[in-house]
Amino acid sequence: MSSDQPFVLRWGIISTGAIAAKFVSDVLIDPRTRAVGDVVHKVAVIGSRDAAKAKEFVNKFGRGDRSIKAYGTYEEVYADKDVDAVYIGTPHTHHYQNSKDAILAKKHVLCEKPVTSNATELKSLMSLAKENGVFFMEAMWTRFQPLACAFKRVLEDGRLGPPVSLRADLSDDLDIENLPTSHRILDPKLGGGALLDLGPYPMVWAIMTMYEHPDNKGEEPGHIAASMLKTPITGVDATTTFVLTFNRTLKAQAILSCSITLPKTRPGANIRFRNGNIIIDAPIYKPGAFTVEYFDKLGSGNVETSETKEFSYIGGGWHFQADEVARCIRDGKLESSEWGHDKSLLEMKVFDEVRRQGGYKFPDGVEQVLG
Ligand SMILES: NC(=O)c1ccc[n+]([C@@H]2O[C@H](COP(=O)([O-])OP(=O)(O)OC[C@H]3O[C@@H](n4cnc5c(N)ncnc54)[C@H](OP(=O)(O)O)[C@@H]3O)[C@@H](O)[C@H]2O)c1
Repeated sequence: MSSDQPFVLRWGIISTGAIAAKFVSDVLIDPRTRAVGDVVHKVAVIGSRDAAKAKEFVNKFGRGDRSIKAYGTYEEVYADKDVDAVYIGTPHTHHYQNSKDAILAKKHVLCEKPVTSNATELKSLMSLAKENGVFFMEAMWTRFQPLACAFKRVLEDGRLGPPVSLRADLSDDLDIENLPTSHRILDPKLGGGALLDLGPYPMVWAIMTMYEHPDNKGEEPGHIAASMLKTPITGVDATTTFVLTFNRTLKAQAILSCSITLPKTRPGANIRFRNGNIIIDAPIYKPGAFTVEYFDKLGSGNVETSETKEFSYIGGGWHFQADEVARCIRDGKLESSEWGHDKSLLEMKVFDEVRRQGGYKFPDGVEQVLG
């Protein structure tokens, strides 16, 4: 369908937390500032567990738009006829129930990472979204940033050959000794710890580089090895390392790590090929640049040429995923071809296995659907 008018997507926002504020601030930036003319975002409704918080959020982040409604329950957001798509920014272990409620109300859903607590919850949501004919996506914003698109083009041009080894880390010293134990980063009932909060980012680079590689033919890694260091404060993982071996068709290994007790590493990721390297700046959730190095001859390790690509734009980078959601909904798609259900499912299966090997079990009742 072609039209001169941009497609308007009307969002209902669930929660008034830190990431909801960033998402709303970004989607309210004029898309033309990022050369997008085919879609526009309207924030229709903000939903909080507390009506006063919702009103305060509208006043603070609504850019003076007096038509934005503020509700004191999430249910009112799901029921609102002016909402096309629901954005979910609650703690991890609430994502399943919030997404389920939105889908059952026939709303399209963009849900924060990690999309659920486990793979079984995600499978259940994937089926429910299909049955209800709604779009559903994990908010894996890094995948839609201009840098990620340029990175994919370098991989696709084939000069480097297939990837062999990748190291990616996301660490952030969150000063956990001074956080309340009820904070979502520390509380196992909210899926606390490094893996679920920061682990999606090393995962997205492994998925973009290895899982999506044509030689991989859509295979999941044949082997996963993982180890967790837990904090004595609440027993959640403070530092986690996991190695994914793509040994079925592509022969490649991703060594991934995350920590809530260390500052960021530089670079954020390093990807090695027989013909060169790609070095990604930190932080890997929103790198500002990456460098491609080409060797003088296969396997020599001598860098003959290198090129650094830098990226900047207005906003925090969360709006690119929103544009993808709008286009998919406009075009009647139920999932994104860039970050489809299979990729989120792989992420959740890997996290289940990493937690199993690391001995991190959620308290009883946290997981809403068990495998
Ligand atoms: N994409 C990114 O860059 C990014 C960055 C940070 C976090 N995240 C993800 O976004 C989610 C939220 O993170 P955040 O940092 O925004 O957390 P946050 O600041 O603690 O906000 C979470 C919000 O969820 C609502 N909520 C509902 N039930 C809750 C409960 N039992 N305990 C606490 N809050 C509850 C609250 O809003 P109301 O009181 O208004 O209902 C709260 O403000 C997490 O899954 C995280 O992984 C993504």
